[in-house]
Amino acid sequence: MPKRIGVLLSGRGSNFEALAESIRAARLPNAEIALVVANREGAPGIEKARARGIPTRVIASKGLEREAYDRKVAAALQEAKVDLVCLAGYMRLLSPYFIAAFPQRILNIHPSLLPSFPGLEAQRQAFEHGVKFAGCTVHFVDENLDAGPIVLQAAVAIRDDDTVESLSERILAEEHRIYTEAVRIILEGRFRIEGRRVLMTPEKK
Ligand code: GRF
Repeated sequence: MPKRIGVLLSGRGSNFEALAESIRAARLPNAEIALVVANREGAPGIEKARARGIPTRVIASKGLEREAYDRKVAAALQEAKVDLVCLAGYMRLLSPYFIAAFPQRILNIHPSLLPSFPGLEAQRQAFEHGVKFAGCTVHFVDENLDAGPIVLQAAVAIRDDDTVESLSERILAEEHRIYTEAVRIILEGRFRIEGRRVLMTPEKK
């Protein structure tokens, strides 16, 4: 049985598309995207999912308390029998209820080398700070912002002639690459967690 992925997004959806494309191209074998959930109407990522014939739900968050909203989303994901939840540009913090519903089964992609530059506009934060290496991180999600154990990272060198936009573009390409790789490792169970460290176990031959 293919492993079932649930994707939560709020916007553009390029990381969702990268995962969908990796599945189509069998870079991510034995997996399927069972459901894409957006927290607002008009998220372009939802249109992209519809175009691919992937089941979608728009569950509006406006006016709901965090946990009340998360209960609705968790119920939709459980109904879709998802094995792994992937946040892909999902602009909400998750409640303890949601985290407990999917223990060690929620991943996020963030466009910085965490723990540097959590939060919004991470690429701009890195650029303006003047660091020489930016990058991206796939991590397990806990109740804190951009904080759970790190699965994979990729570094991107910042050039003198970069702009925030050119840097963001190169980071995004790396996001798409490492998100697929991280999902594959997690779905194949090729890891163990020691404290904050996510250690890879060898690929089965
Ligand atoms: C990405 O940069 C991701 O790292 C961050 O939000 C952005 C979402 O982009 N969490 P997309 O919607 O996947 O194109």
